[in-house]
Amino acid sequence: MQTEAEKTQISIDEMATFCRRKGFVYPGSEIYGSLSGIFDYGPLGVGLKNNIKQEWWKTHVQQREDIIGMDGAIISHQKIWEASGHLSGFSDVILECKKCKEKVRGDVFIEDQLNISTEGLKVKDIDAIIKKNKLKCLKCGGEFKDASDFNLMFPVHIGASKENNSIAYLRGETAQLIFANFKKVVENSRLKLPFGIAQIGKAFRNEIAPRNFLFRCREFEQMEIEYFVKPGDKKCPYIKEVLNHKLKVLSAEMQEKNQEEKEMTMKQALQKKIIKNEWHAYWLAQCNKWFINLGANPDNFRIRQHKRKELAHYSSDCWDLEYNFPFGYKELQGIADRSDYDLQQHIKHSGQDLSLFDEDTKQKIVPHVVAEPSLGVDRAFLVFMFDAYEYDKKRENIVLKLHPKLAPIKVAVFPLLKNKKSLVKKAREVYNLLKEDFASMYDEAGSIGKKYARQDEAGTFLGVTIDFDSLKKKDCTIRSRDTTKQIRVKIKDLKKVVEELISGEKLSKFGKYIN
Ligand code: GAP
Repeated sequence: MQTEAEKTQISIDEMATFCRRKGFVYPGSEIYGSLSGIFDYGPLGVGLKNNIKQEWWKTHVQQREDIIGMDGAIISHQKIWEASGHLSGFSDVILECKKCKEKVRGDVFIEDQLNISTEGLKVKDIDAIIKKNKLKCLKCGGEFKDASDFNLMFPVHIGASKENNSIAYLRGETAQLIFANFKKVVENSRLKLPFGIAQIGKAFRNEIAPRNFLFRCREFEQMEIEYFVKPGDKKCPYIKEVLNHKLKVLSAEMQEKNQEEKEMTMKQALQKKIIKNEWHAYWLAQCNKWFINLGANPDNFRIRQHKRKELAHYSSDCWDLEYNFPFGYKELQGIADRSDYDLQQHIKHSGQDLSLFDEDTKQKIVPHVVAEPSLGVDRAFLVFMFDAYEYDKKRENIVLKLHPKLAPIKVAVFPLLKNKKSLVKKAREVYNLLKEDFASMYDEAGSIGKKYARQDEAGTFLGVTIDFDSLKKKDCTIRSRDTTKQIRVKIKDLKKVVEELISGEKLSKFGKYIN
């Protein structure tokens, strides 16, 4: 049977509804009315999310000699955030209505009302735009107070005391724990520059306007690498690996001149000095390749340089890997040059020596973070879901074409009929065999068509059916989610076949199509 899947464009709200219905993601604390910007992951969601994290770790830590991992605590000392500048500078501009006290995030409000870019606008810019355009509160029509900064860090009290010195913070980014543990991690791993330290974990931001489902939440997860080099080192020894990689590029200068993004190779971007640092070109391409290798659509990505006034307080240059979400191109992953800002701040505030000894110059140096690839797990989750989502007209159901390595369930096992004991017994045997090595499920409810449709929507990569022939021939059918094609395979060979199919082999390698 030929399938008629077509790329289906759905809105972020439709994606949220689909995720809730299928058990990928639920609104947080929903039975008590939900908490805005907080989400719980359901049975399929946790599977996909774990697979995303596992694949990221495998590519960026396990398979590299120059990157090592760590896992810092979520609750951290207030001095960490004083030193990093988050307590004074990590804020968004808030607008409060004089009449009804409604609070909105300044840049988002202006973007919605005037449809203009608000990247990097500060308090005074927001105030000026509100006044010039006579913008009022949407709820009651009242005037706004003067705009002000709103700090995004979540304070918590440690222990029974409510004194000021008992305040600690839920981390606003995982990165600071890498800086705070820098010296110990380097000494324990005997790392030599250039090297990276990676971490996956939760981060918390008291966003004024969480929105667009998982895109901007108050609790989310990050996968971050701090990549350290000797001060001034712009030569990346791995650059050859990515020179031919093509990306749509939008530099700060192109944005100032109102130019469109241009597709080019990393080699061209470096030669034309659009990207000035080899390390940036390398990491931007690497990060993009990671998505593409896991099935994301290359056409949906571009890289965009931050304009000067957009840069975070710690950053001297920053490029974002952006994805074309249903609400436009938005940041998926930031790749900032943080220089030695953080290590110097922690040296100053902690009084500890965080420098390294450079064997070449026989001098102490404070390494620079030349690139900080920082990716939100939840945003990556959205990317894979959007690029996998298709409505198949012939099947009349959604098919979630997740890459087999990401699919939460690799294989579902069905008896052809649930009221035939011999079929059920054999199907259970096969399921027990497969679940040792693969995320599998056993499903006997409904007709075979219903079972296939249910698994297509869950993104289950393969369907194994035990029919009457299976009992005689000691075999089963395997069905591909993406093509609906089926072959028959001996049960004794099943594990090996499933493993090879997940690794990218074609179904036709293992038998003749029977449909
Ligand atoms: N350590 C650098 C850092 O935290 P960032 O640009 O603020 O930089 C990095 O965040 C990534 O974390 C973003 O590109 C995005 O993928 C994710 N992220 C940031 N804020 C988020 C939020 N409120 N909800 C979901 N993901 C978020």
